[in-house]
Amino acid sequence: MNNPGNNPENKTGATPPTIGVFDSGFGGLTVLRALIQRLPRARFAFLGDTARLPYGSKSRRTIARYAAESAQFLVNEQDAEFLVIACNTASALALDAIQDAVPVPVLGVIEPGAEAAWAASRAGDVLVIATDATVQSHAYAAACRARGLRALEKACPLLVPLVEEGWTAHAVTAEVIRIYLEELNAEAAAQGMKPDTLVLGCTHYPLLRPLIERAVPAGMRVIDSAEAAAEAALRHFNGRAAPAAAPSAGQDAPPEPQLRCFATDSVEKFERLGSRFLNRPVGKVELVDLGG
Ligand code: DGL
Repeated sequence: MNNPGNNPENKTGATPPTIGVFDSGFGGLTVLRALIQRLPRARFAFLGDTARLPYGSKSRRTIARYAAESAQFLVNEQDAEFLVIACNTASALALDAIQDAVPVPVLGVIEPGAEAAWAASRAGDVLVIATDATVQSHAYAAACRARGLRALEKACPLLVPLVEEGWTAHAVTAEVIRIYLEELNAEAAAQGMKPDTLVLGCTHYPLLRPLIERAVPAGMRVIDSAEAAAEAALRHFNGRAAPAAAPSAGQDAPPEPQLRCFATDSVEKFERLGSRFLNRPVGKVELVDLGG
């Protein structure tokens, strides 16, 4: 593997790539965190389309327009040469529209998530929690079916606003999660399923992982697509003279990744909560106007 050392330029003198990462809000920071760990010497531009969040309750047409505009901002104005769509909703409903809108490779999170579910499940029965729009698209069910898995999907629309409020350890959030999962497990039992894996099909949900792990039946594997998506991005950059190096076991990312964060609204809130969710300072968040 190519190791560029600590210099932001690698041994060949090539400039590190800029990777654009995009979500409707803070959830995508879970994917960014995993990317920084694996590609610590890349440059990152993260956009949270906080003015237009939530995407998960909107139509395919609207999600596709918002996502394409966000992608174009990252590519045209931040010179991103690779895009990670750190949003299951945009990945499920707008991946084609995004690919048509920008001339760079685009990685979504659904396929890596389904792949991780396939690797984790022994029973072949999988539960998926996601936004309304993702569930309606049945993108996870299709991606799981393609791998021989049976998937039961459930929309959990209250969870994104709770995360955006910063209530990631709140008793109210724990109770909401308990009710959603109880309903989902009852439905699975009624269908004769024996699920052993729960997919967090929204990038906001890993921020609730401790509460979710407490609420699932004993032995159920909880997986999110952030790690799997970051592995896929790592493979992409290993395929050429990549300036990235994976950290060795137990080692965290270097202290100062090259990161610029943008939001379409609420930059102060992004600065406050973003640093907590990313586990490192997000720095000064820049306000962007992408229109209505
Ligand atoms: N984080 C996004 C996802 O992964 C959805 C949040 C929203 O509804 O905007 O689906």
